[in-house]
Amino acid sequence: MNPNEQQISTTVLVIGTGGSGLRAAIELAEMGVDVLAVGKRPRNDAHTSLAAGGINAALGTMDKEDSWQQHAADTIKESYMLANPHTVEIVARGAAQGIHDLERYGMGFAREEDGRISQRFFGAHTFRRTAFAGDYTGLEIQRSLVNRAEQLQIPILDSVYITRLLVKDNQVFGAYGFDINTGKRYLIHADSVILAAGGHTRIWRRTSSRRDENTGDAFRLAVDAGARLRDPELVQFHPSGIIEPESAAGTLISEAARGEGGILRNALGERFMERYDPVRKELSTRDRVALAAYTEIKEGRGTKNGGVWLDISHLPRETIMERLPRVYQTMLEVQMLDVTAEPIEIAPTAHYSMGGVWVRPEDHGTDVNGLYAIGEASSGLHGANRLGGNSLIELLVFGRIVARAAAKYSASLESQPRSAKALAHARAEIDDLLAANGQENVRELQRAIRNMMTDHAGVVRDEEGLQAGLAKLDDIEGRMEHVGIHPDIAGFQDLAHAFDLLGSALAARATLEAALERRETRGCHNRSDYPAMDDSLRVNLVWSPSEGVVREAIPQIPAEISELIKEVSSAGKLVE
Ligand code: FUM
Repeated sequence: MNPNEQQISTTVLVIGTGGSGLRAAIELAEMGVDVLAVGKRPRNDAHTSLAAGGINAALGTMDKEDSWQQHAADTIKESYMLANPHTVEIVARGAAQGIHDLERYGMGFAREEDGRISQRFFGAHTFRRTAFAGDYTGLEIQRSLVNRAEQLQIPILDSVYITRLLVKDNQVFGAYGFDINTGKRYLIHADSVILAAGGHTRIWRRTSSRRDENTGDAFRLAVDAGARLRDPELVQFHPSGIIEPESAAGTLISEAARGEGGILRNALGERFMERYDPVRKELSTRDRVALAAYTEIKEGRGTKNGGVWLDISHLPRETIMERLPRVYQTMLEVQMLDVTAEPIEIAPTAHYSMGGVWVRPEDHGTDVNGLYAIGEASSGLHGANRLGGNSLIELLVFGRIVARAAAKYSASLESQPRSAKALAHARAEIDDLLAANGQENVRELQRAIRNMMTDHAGVVRDEEGLQAGLAKLDDIEGRMEHVGIHPDIAGFQDLAHAFDLLGSALAARATLEAALERRETRGCHNRSDYPAMDDSLRVNLVWSPSEGVVREAIPQIPAEISELIKEVSSAGKLVE
């Protein structure tokens, strides 16, 4: 027995206390199922709190013609036909219920004078479908979920880093980790585990994720347990991340700014979206707007700092204060810039992992019995281009479904496996890293991965660059053998960074290998050496360390949805 190790037992362990983890935990607690949630950062500050502009559901409060079928059709169309139709149908059908759940938890949605929930336009939606709370929608959702979780007295451990899932004979039976502040170890036995620990966008230099968020740790946990990843190469670059200061590079300026009438201009003052998508202009799809901004910058029409201008200064001041308060505050805080008077300098920023852990559409179960994945950690809904506002509704819908699936699975167990070998491995992994005393610095290696991914797997990719990226990754992984880990009086952050680094390296390899295999241009994935979409690649790419990249067919789209899909083309996409 280790006096520095606490043992806990629960029915369902939820890893991650952002929106998806909390929503699942709430459902379990409301069902009377024993649940424990753990997160590596404080619950009030989880990544969900950064989500800005809105959450989608075909409520028809503004545009009565909207329907769940049209929401599904828009989602599939804008995924460039890579979204799983079953996943999409589940989310679009369940979206209104997701919004009602949030209202039940006390969420303060923006409303029209008569009390209807307001809905705004977001890029590439057929109707106004995005409900919101200013541009603090994620923060308000997170607050509502935290409040509800606290009402239900759900136990939440706020600073526990999970390092390994415990598995025997392909069945999960818990997880192992440590407290980031004290180093205390946790052995958590659970009948099932819900992985809700985010994606991998922090492995790019400019990203809308903060330090130590979305480092690929969920991917590593799942893959080490025996699960696979789907479409890791499909990463959404949001068009509008700020450029300066370097420490905040990539911080998001919500799409709501364009939804409310913001205009994009290059350094010559041209409204360049008129050339790329003359009809939708700034409200074109994210992949197109991001590629357009990238192309303007690459072709020399960008600003001195390598950006373009997003201008909202022509909007009424009240619109900015009421509907874009975070944009206003953020720019004042980071640049002392008044957006009611001046344009914002922006460039594409890595924003969302559209691929993730391979899951079944119906219950988000993985290849490992008893292990579920949800939210940005999972895959299936977004394909090659995510509609803004769809990730928030996904977590509401699947939070409910996955919780029920995990509870049912747990109740069906006749015995609870244990494995001394799996546990010894988890313990030794931490012991070994704590004993590591090499010359290499973890933060520097994280930076090396981010530089490599930015240079070789950014908005536009090609074979030569991706191969060069893999060669650099081999080198970085070699250096990772010689790290030194130095927890200090302030805590065990350095150990957490070392595990983040392992996750980032795995996520980078999966991304590069799948990006090489996708020899086409589709949605967010722009291959300058393969500038057209290839019908034979209308498949998902499933990655595992043992089998590499394997193609997976996409099921047929139900007729009631497919007949609403108007057109899918790559016209208007300019690859350099
Ligand atoms: O721009 C935004 O407000 C982002 C929304 C989203 O990614 O869904």
